[in-house]
Amino acid sequence: MAGRGFQLSDVSETELAAFGVHLARNLCAGDTILLDGPVGAGKTHLARALIQSILIEPEDVPSPTFTLSQVYETVRGTLWHTDLYRITSENEIEELGLTEAFETAICLVEWPDRLGVYAPKDALVLNFEAKNYDTRNVHAIWTSPRWDKLKERVHAGS
Ligand SMILES: Nc1ncnc2c1ncn2[C@@H]1O[C@H](COP(=O)(O)OP(=O)(O)OP(=O)(O)O)[C@@H](O)[C@H]1O
Ligand SMILES: [Mg+2]
Repeated sequence: MAGRGFQLSDVSETELAAFGVHLARNLCAGDTILLDGPVGAGKTHLARALIQSILIEPEDVPSPTFTLSQVYETVRGTLWHTDLYRITSENEIEELGLTEAFETAICLVEWPDRLGVYAPKDALVLNFEAKNYDTRNVHAIWTSPRWDKLKERVHAGS
C-alpha cells in the first residue's frame, strides 16, 4: 500500500499545540501515534497539548522520560503516553504492557525506533525536525486508510 502524508512547515509552539488538539478530536482506542525526532524536537509538547484537550479531570502531563509510561483517562478512552528513550531491550516493551495497550488504548510513543518489530503497522507517524530554535517541521506519514481524513481536515483548517 502506498504511503500517504503531509508536511507542516515552520510551525510555532502554539501551532504545534493546536495540531495536537486537532489530532485528539479524531482518536479512538487502538490508535497509535509514533512521535519520532531528536531530543527537544517537540514530541512531548505536542503530546501534552493533545492529552490536555481530552482529559476527563485536568492534571499535569509530565514527560514520561523516567516513568516510561503515563496513563490517562480521557473522553476518548484510556491513553498511554510512553517514552522509550531509556529502554535497553525490546523485551521491555511487552513487560511495560505496551503491546497490549496498542490493542486496547490510544498510544502516543516517543522514541518509537526502540519498538523494532513491535511497531504497529497502522500507526500514524509524526517525524519532527528542529532546524530553528523556535519553529519545527513535522512530517505526518501513514499507510493505513484509518488516517486518510486527517489530511482533509488539516487542509480545511480545522
Ligand atoms: N515550534 C516549537 N514547537 C515545539 N517546541 C518548541 C518550539 N519552539 C521551541 N520549542 C521548545 O522546544 C522544547 C521541546 O521540548 P519537548 O520536551 O517537547 O521535546 P521532546 O521532543 O519531547 O524531547 P525528548 O526526546 O527529550 O523527550 C520545549 O522547550 C519547547 O518550549
Ligand atoms: Mg519528550
